[in-house]
Amino acid sequence: MINKGIILAGGKGTRLSPITKSTNKQLLPIYDKPLFFYPLSILMLADIRNILLIINKGQKKNFINVVGDGRHLGLKISYEEQLKPSGIPEAFKIGKKFIGNSNVSLILGDNFFYGQSLTELLQTTKVFKKGCTVFLKGVSKPENYGVAKIKDKKIVEIIEKPKKFISDKAITGLYFFDNHVVQIAHKLKPSKRKETEIVDVIKNYKKRNCLNFIELGRGAIWSDAGKIDDFTNISNFVTSVEKVQGIKIACLDEIAYQKKWITKKQILKNIKFYGECPYSNYLRKIINNENSKN
Ligand code: TTP
Repeated sequence: MINKGIILAGGKGTRLSPITKSTNKQLLPIYDKPLFFYPLSILMLADIRNILLIINKGQKKNFINVVGDGRHLGLKISYEEQLKPSGIPEAFKIGKKFIGNSNVSLILGDNFFYGQSLTELLQTTKVFKKGCTVFLKGVSKPENYGVAKIKDKKIVEIIEKPKKFISDKAITGLYFFDNHVVQIAHKLKPSKRKETEIVDVIKNYKKRNCLNFIELGRGAIWSDAGKIDDFTNISNFVTSVEKVQGIKIACLDEIAYQKKWITKKQILKNIKFYGECPYSNYLRKIINNENSKN
């Protein structure tokens, strides 16, 4: 079982500079919502309500302005600052107290996931016991990612940005870990680029024979928003889906309401907080439709 999640939402954001000179990447808009709503919605869809947001120094008040302590969404959101972006596994050192004796899910704050059967796959949090589960997705340029080679339904090799083709299955920015991850993170040595590396954590689980994977199929989409082209592509995708289908992707209030974590009264309060905007109009539609069903 996993009921705690970390969103790693700090980082340098070098590739999006100069936009990221004044604000965190994860606060930038993907169409009509801040980027971090998308990974946050993934944790919510996995029924994870206890969430730690790791952010850059000095950014806490900006995130608080948007989601506060999460109570209005039926969540418990806490914050920690990462003083310097020194690697993804730092999340387990910074989050040591938050994790306590529990298992934990980590999602990168600039990762976008969408697609049919994703919600179902995320429900594996309920049956997760031990080891590490990574989510893999086929990509056209594996040389740009940490990649896993699969043989006989097992991960047999992991290479970061392979120069020679070994597999097209990229390791995405969503992971489930047992509590052992805290110990592993504390023992890691920085790589050549002076950061600790998440692939080293995953390799540790592989070595101990407790690395599992879930493959996202052709109907699922995954991308990180690290590069400006990917960032705009995701934004265009969300725009198209929302306009054509009349639904919203990563509407946190809608997810919380559907899961019965918050009431209609709370949604009305949230609408007041957001003010007059299409997001609020959408929420009104959600609760009114619900009324017409009753
Ligand atoms: P990256 O894309 O690896 O790094 P970045 O966001 O700093 O961007 P750039 O490479 O352009 O400088 O990070 C992936 C996610 O993890 C992103 O949401 C930022 C976050 N992150 C941290 O919060 N702290 C860290 O130390 C690192 C390495 C990443």
